[in-house]
Amino acid sequence: MEKMPFAEPWRIKMVEHIKMLSKEEREHKIKEADFNLFNLSAEDVYIDLITDSGTSAMSDRQWSALMLGDEAYAGSKSFKKMKNKITELLGFPYIIPTHQGRAAENVLFSALVKEGSVVPGNAHFDTTKGHIEFRKGICVDCTIDEASDPSVYHPFKGNLDPQKLENTIQKYGVENIPLVVLTVTCNTGGGQPVSMENIRKISEICKKHKIKLIFDSARFSENAYFIKTRETGYENKTIKEIVKEMFSYADGMTMSAKKDAIINMGGFIALNSQELFRECCTFNIIFEGYITYGGMSGRDMEALAVGLEEGTDYNYLHTRISQVAYLGEQLKKAGIPLLEPFGGHAIYVDALKFLPHIPQTQYPAQVLGVELYIEAGVRGVEIGTVLADRDPITRAERPPKMELLRLAIPRRVYTNNHIDMIVWGLKQVWNRRDKCKGLKITWEAPIMRHFTATFCINEK
Ligand code: F0G
Repeated sequence: MEKMPFAEPWRIKMVEHIKMLSKEEREHKIKEADFNLFNLSAEDVYIDLITDSGTSAMSDRQWSALMLGDEAYAGSKSFKKMKNKITELLGFPYIIPTHQGRAAENVLFSALVKEGSVVPGNAHFDTTKGHIEFRKGICVDCTIDEASDPSVYHPFKGNLDPQKLENTIQKYGVENIPLVVLTVTCNTGGGQPVSMENIRKISEICKKHKIKLIFDSARFSENAYFIKTRETGYENKTIKEIVKEMFSYADGMTMSAKKDAIINMGGFIALNSQELFRECCTFNIIFEGYITYGGMSGRDMEALAVGLEEGTDYNYLHTRISQVAYLGEQLKKAGIPLLEPFGGHAIYVDALKFLPHIPQTQYPAQVLGVELYIEAGVRGVEIGTVLADRDPITRAERPPKMELLRLAIPRRVYTNNHIDMIVWGLKQVWNRRDKCKGLKITWEAPIMRHFTATFCINEK
């Protein structure tokens, strides 16, 4: 008997119009934007895959929750609703709202990271790294070796190598390591999950050395989906049970709610320690706002509470992650080199294999992003040498092992017809790849340069 197909557990109630410029217009627009995709006007983009952050579609339940927003400065009902939902799902008793994920990092790291602090992790996200390096701390990437080869299959490429972690602790001394950051799923590494077994092991090491284990949790429920579908012993557990167990091994978390909580703006810190909570509260008041709103409006906290519930639903996660995989499978069929296994929120195209004639110092993943925009009006984002930035001390370029173009899929936004359009566009670039030219930076900021750098075509 033919297997029953699986379709989205939602239908579309409202649509947003998008338009496609002509190829000539796009060529003009990208030149005007100095070949930096961040500089484009969003209305000039047909399918926007620059991020899955804050770009997802809220549900009717979330939109109606907005109307219940209690905008009281202190002690609002909406804060309590959000706090209770976080505690119910994730287990932490102390919650601090922030306006987004990096703000949570700013507040928590103000309490934990000092000059000379060493923070091991699994390919820290750029804002996480930025906040640590800004405080003159050092990030040490302890991801497993398999993660740096796009073609190697490993079900949990986000895993942190326990031996590398132990070595880092030995090398720098436990007194200099205030925390370990475990990113679930690991975005920089390709949207790759961390296994429960690995979480457990890393937590044991951290407990042994009395080092705090903090999860960077932007895509925690996608991580839970991979545990359910890939890790023995978790097949029959619900997403919510898996999520609860994951966080039971952590001392706290930072959250960009713009991802798996399916809202357009928001974030929080969740902690077990009252002492650390109190310390963070002071920083929250300075940077974000009073401790029961922290940069969020009451209505956003309402939508967050609903979004967390929807974001941890299996059927939702299954259609979301299957759509990302559908994009990956179509591109793979066309022979386009990708990072595998496919990520939870995005497909990462291997620019080193796609454009082998362009050296990393001419930013092949950035080139690929520019060409895909010109071809089909699709906007991805470079996760390569531009993003990796310069070494904070030597100021030398530090090309990463992987040079990727990320195609991040917003939640509940695009149909599979859009996905087919992306595939078509990338195939056109693939067919004329030999003619693509490298780029040269003409201006860059001293930190986090990828957002604002300007480029020109490298004619050499
Ligand atoms: N941690 C991870 C793993 C992230 O992916 C992000 C954001 C943040 C922290 C920061 O959160 O944006 O709310 O301040 N990632 C977005 C992206 C920007 O496109 O991947 P934020």
